[in-house]
Amino acid sequence: MSARLRRLTLANFRCFEQVSIEPGAGVNLLLGPNGAGKTSLLESLFFLSRAQSFRTRRREMLIRHNQHALRLQATLSGVSSSPREVPLVLAFAADEGLQVRIDREPVRRLSVLAQHLPVLLIDPAARELVAGSPRLRRRLLDWSLFHAAPTQVEAWRRYMLALRQRNAALRRREPASVIRSLDVPLAAAAGAIHGWREGFARALQSAMAPLLDRLLGREDIRLRYQSGWPAEQEFAEVLAARLERDRQAGLTGAGPHRADLRPLAGNQPVAEVLSGGEQKLVAAALVLAQAQVIAAVGRDPVLLVDDLPAELDAERRAKLAGLLREMPVQQFWTALAPGLVDAGPARCFEIGRSGIKAML
Ligand SMILES: Nc1ncnc2c1ncn2[C@@H]1O[C@H](COP(=O)(O)OP(=O)(O)O)[C@@H](O)[C@H]1O
Ligand SMILES: [Mg+2]
Repeated sequence: MSARLRRLTLANFRCFEQVSIEPGAGVNLLLGPNGAGKTSLLESLFFLSRAQSFRTRRREMLIRHNQHALRLQATLSGVSSSPREVPLVLAFAADEGLQVRIDREPVRRLSVLAQHLPVLLIDPAARELVAGSPRLRRRLLDWSLFHAAPTQVEAWRRYMLALRQRNAALRRREPASVIRSLDVPLAAAAGAIHGWREGFARALQSAMAPLLDRLLGREDIRLRYQSGWPAEQEFAEVLAARLERDRQAGLTGAGPHRADLRPLAGNQPVAEVLSGGEQKLVAAALVLAQAQVIAAVGRDPVLLVDDLPAELDAERRAKLAGLLREMPVQQFWTALAPGLVDAGPARCFEIGRSGIKAML
């Protein structure tokens, strides 16, 4: 089912005092000079989904200077099978914290928010996804699990809980028998997560291959899923064998929390052989593949693409824009000027000092 944003109102969010837009179902192109508020608008959508920003961990940074609270209001359609539109309100004040209402009901679990409006981002920092630390790719795995396999989320929670308990016991220098008893639930949950991740990594790889072929003309780029422990061994045995080492370290050194989805070109890490622009394209392909896999089993994500033309030559830019336009999901792109990207039959908005104007 296609979740779609019908209307968005920002109040005291970043540079915006009060603005509203009515986006279209396909591509929405946000245009404006540096500092106009393009990234802030994408950030507001990301915030509506995750109650976090992609630019800062401090929510108070998002409140407009000299104000004490921000408020985002959106109307969603396609939330359930009914044609009804669902209002979503998210308010944040430094002293009162976060308040979320979906369909006028207060919501405490942020996971409920994320499920209403799954949002994926491709921005100039997305390159880190392929070139940076495994942490970002594990986050991608976890986010995907959450949206594509809600029934597995319980296993993930059990794993995290068991891991915390084992680590705490290791730090307290509990006897080996205590640690071994904690290994049992840890290994059981790890098995479930690993099984799902293996299948997901395969699906991601299959979705990514044709995208990379079109974007880069390369067939030798792949994702190598690493479970977080030696592939040929059972995790329970790995835990048993590591016991002394883990006790020394006071920490569980292997497991799904050490997994990776390593992007390789040939057999080399993508970061070491591809150019910056090429890495951006690999990252874009990864996010698009993720969007496709998730849309196939769950809800259509909304795509945010910040500064699409950055770092890309005209040919690659056109190819990426073409791929994006083929995605049957709602999207928000930003660019400095309309001539820089071909957004097709997009709805365009001009962001300037006087607010946001829909362009005809
Ligand atoms: N909390 C805030 N209150 C008011 N203005 C802000 C706040 N945070 C950032 N800004 C300003 O918002 C402007 C828009 O930033 P941004 O959305 O990154 O612009 P763009 O992506 O269009 O280049 C910047 O000039 C920035 O200084
Ligand atoms: Mg920007």
